[in-house]
Amino acid sequence: MEPFSTLLRTASREQHEEVSSSTFISDLLAHRLGVDAYARYTEQLWFVYGALESGARQLAGDPVAGPFVRPELFRVTELERDLEHLRGPGWRGTADALPATLKYAERITACARTWPAGYIAHHYTRYLGDLSGGQIIRDTAEKTWGFSKKGDGVRFYVFEEIPNPAAFKRTYCALLDAVPGDELERQRIVAECKRAYGLNNEMFEALAEEFPLTA
Ligand code: HEM
Repeated sequence: MEPFSTLLRTASREQHEEVSSSTFISDLLAHRLGVDAYARYTEQLWFVYGALESGARQLAGDPVAGPFVRPELFRVTELERDLEHLRGPGWRGTADALPATLKYAERITACARTWPAGYIAHHYTRYLGDLSGGQIIRDTAEKTWGFSKKGDGVRFYVFEEIPNPAAFKRTYCALLDAVPGDELERQRIVAECKRAYGLNNEMFEALAEEFPLTA
C-alpha cells in the first residue's frame, strides 16, 4: 500500500497549486501588496492557529492525533508578537475574523472535537506548508516591508525549535504513515485535506477582495 504521506501529497497537489497561485499569494510574492494587507492576513492566521492550537491542547492525549501535537510547531505566541509589531499594542481591540476565516476556524474546531483524524488533515495542511512555502513568504515579506531578518513581523515563519525542517518533515511523514485506519478512512482524511486547502483559498479570496490592486 502507498505510504499515506505520499498519498496525501499527491492527492492534494492540484489544491496546493491553486492556493499557492491564488491572487492574494501571487500579489504578495510579486511585492504588489501594502503592509496593511500583510497585517490583515497575519490577523486572520491568528484566528486559524488559535483554533488549531486549542484543538492540539485538547487532543494531546488522543491515540490518533496526539502524536502530531508538537509544541515546537505552536505559532500563536509568534503571531501575537508579529501583530503587536504590525498593529501596535492595541491590536486585540480591532482584530476581527473575516467570514471565510471564521468558517475555516470552525471547521478545525469541529474536527478537533469529533474527528481527530480529520484534525490531522488540517494540521498537515498548515504546518507542513509553513515549514515549506512559508519560508518563501517570509523572505518576500522581509524584502518588501523591511522587517529584520527572522525578526518581529515574520516570527510566525520562524521555527526556532526546529533547526532542521527537512528532518522534521521526515519524522512528520512517518507519523502520517502510521495513522491507523482502513482505506476508507484514509480517503476521508484526503478529502478533509482538500477541504482545508479550499478553506484557505476562500480566505485568500476574501483577502484579495479586501485589498484589490489599484494600479
Ligand atoms: C507562497 C506560496 C507557496 C509556495 C511557493 C509553496 C511552495 C511549496 C514547496 C516548494 C513545497 C515542497 C517542499 C518540500 O518538498 O519539502 C511545499 C509543500 C507544502 N505546501 Fe506549499 N507553498 C506555498 C503556499 C502554501 C499554502 C498557502 C499552503 C496551505 C494552506 C501550503 C501547503 C503545503 C503543504 C501541506 C506542503 C507539504 C507537502 C508534502 O510534502 O506533503 N503551501 N510548498
